[in-house]
Amino acid sequence: MKEATKSNYDIKDINQAEGGRRRMDWAEHEMPVLRQIRERFKKEKPLKGLRVSACLHVTTETANLMVTLQDGGADIVLTASNPLSTQDDVAAALVNQFEIPTFAIKGEDKMTYFKHIRAALEHKPHMTMDDGADLVSSLFFIEMGRFDNLEPSLASWARSLSDEERKTLLTNVIGGTEETTTGVIRLKAMEADKVLKFPVIAVNDALTKHLFDNRYGTGQSTIDGIIRATNVLLAGKNFIVAGYGWCGRGLASRARGMGAQVIVTEVDPMKALEAVMDGFQVMPMGDAARIGDFFCTVTGDINVIDGQHFEAMKDGAIVANSGHFNVEINIPALEKMSTGKPNLVRPFVDQYTTKDGRKINILGEGRLINLASAEGHPASVMDMSFANQALSAEYMAKNADKLEKKVYSVPVDIDKEIARLKLEAMGVKIDILTDQQLKYLSSWEEGT
Ligand SMILES: NC(=O)c1ccc[n+]([C@@H]2O[C@H](COP(=O)([O-])OP(=O)(O)OC[C@H]3O[C@@H](n4cnc5c(N)ncnc54)[C@H](O)[C@@H]3O)[C@@H](O)[C@H]2O)c1
Repeated sequence: MKEATKSNYDIKDINQAEGGRRRMDWAEHEMPVLRQIRERFKKEKPLKGLRVSACLHVTTETANLMVTLQDGGADIVLTASNPLSTQDDVAAALVNQFEIPTFAIKGEDKMTYFKHIRAALEHKPHMTMDDGADLVSSLFFIEMGRFDNLEPSLASWARSLSDEERKTLLTNVIGGTEETTTGVIRLKAMEADKVLKFPVIAVNDALTKHLFDNRYGTGQSTIDGIIRATNVLLAGKNFIVAGYGWCGRGLASRARGMGAQVIVTEVDPMKALEAVMDGFQVMPMGDAARIGDFFCTVTGDINVIDGQHFEAMKDGAIVANSGHFNVEINIPALEKMSTGKPNLVRPFVDQYTTKDGRKINILGEGRLINLASAEGHPASVMDMSFANQALSAEYMAKNADKLEKKVYSVPVDIDKEIARLKLEAMGVKIDILTDQQLKYLSSWEEGT
């Protein structure tokens, strides 16, 4: 284990460690699958000797994953995967109580964010664990000498390295894992462009991840974030959900559960049709913009709420994003239409006044609101997501030499085992196919 010393961490306040530890323990109680993996990792040490650099939202659940990897023998450095998602008390607990070098401060600016990514790279990882692919893309830009694609301070560090050092930074890595939809899209684009230089397991693609984390986790925690930020009643309001993917459908159903009239916007006819049949109104954003009280984007796309939509919005509209990057809402367009700077009317609520006098409220600077103003997904769903992370890391440690430079799905056996363990932990039993049923389901000879 690497001892956390003052020089190898950067957090807000070490004195918050005890509170962070209590909240970690609270989350751990809801993570029985990860707990079982941790017990096995303690004995078997499948990650022994591996340096792992993780770039994840620094939450109570992530902290439990980090401790699991450490118990599995990994030498970890953790950095934030979003400037607003860090829980400072948890970062303190990781440093103070588990001696895990952690680089994350809630509200850090872009330069600090990338200074922290640099710390994760300086760890010379054998394995990367990303949420949004910032770590991996930085690594590739450095190796390719594409310094203009990097944040300036990261670029100047990269320039100071010798060619050999830059190369080894990459050749050291045996493989990685990726947590979220947006990261997987970026990695698949890297694979298509033939710049992906090591295998990566797309944890997001496991059924025990996106069916639960993206749907129920994002659904509940996004509503939680919007309510904590605004304390505005949802019942009876028009709530616009942009994107009816895994996150969007979770959010739409939870917003309906709060009594809102939910309207979905989509670009994919199949998803739009599903939303219609699930009982939601579907219309273009241009129309929804005129009637929405709340807006939330969950698309992974850019400028989904754009200047012309702000032009149409009602006075008092509340606009949030729960997709990975802060590009879904075109905030610069709103800035141009507004008089002066926004007023911070409540924590995480920036109120813009348009030149025609309307107030438009942007939550959490357009960053994922469930992590900015709330605590991210509840531990019970992260139990499955992070069981996938831990088991995928173990799989990568054992099989990296047999894998190609591609994006891989989580092996089906791992996915099914996690579902089985979760059901067992919840005390839910299911039927088992009889021999007759097994035979029937695999034959074509029996019919009417
Ligand atoms: N907030 C969180 O904690 C959290 C958790 C998981 C995933 N995410 C992120 O949320 C985003 C969505 O993830 P997902 O798993 O639901 O992805 P998904 O691919 O299942 O769904 C995205 C949907 O958005 C639609 N879309 C794309 N552009 C659009 C546009 N201009 N207008 C309307 N709809 C549009 C797509 O057709 C698709 O149906 C990603 O960025 C992902 O990384 C966030």
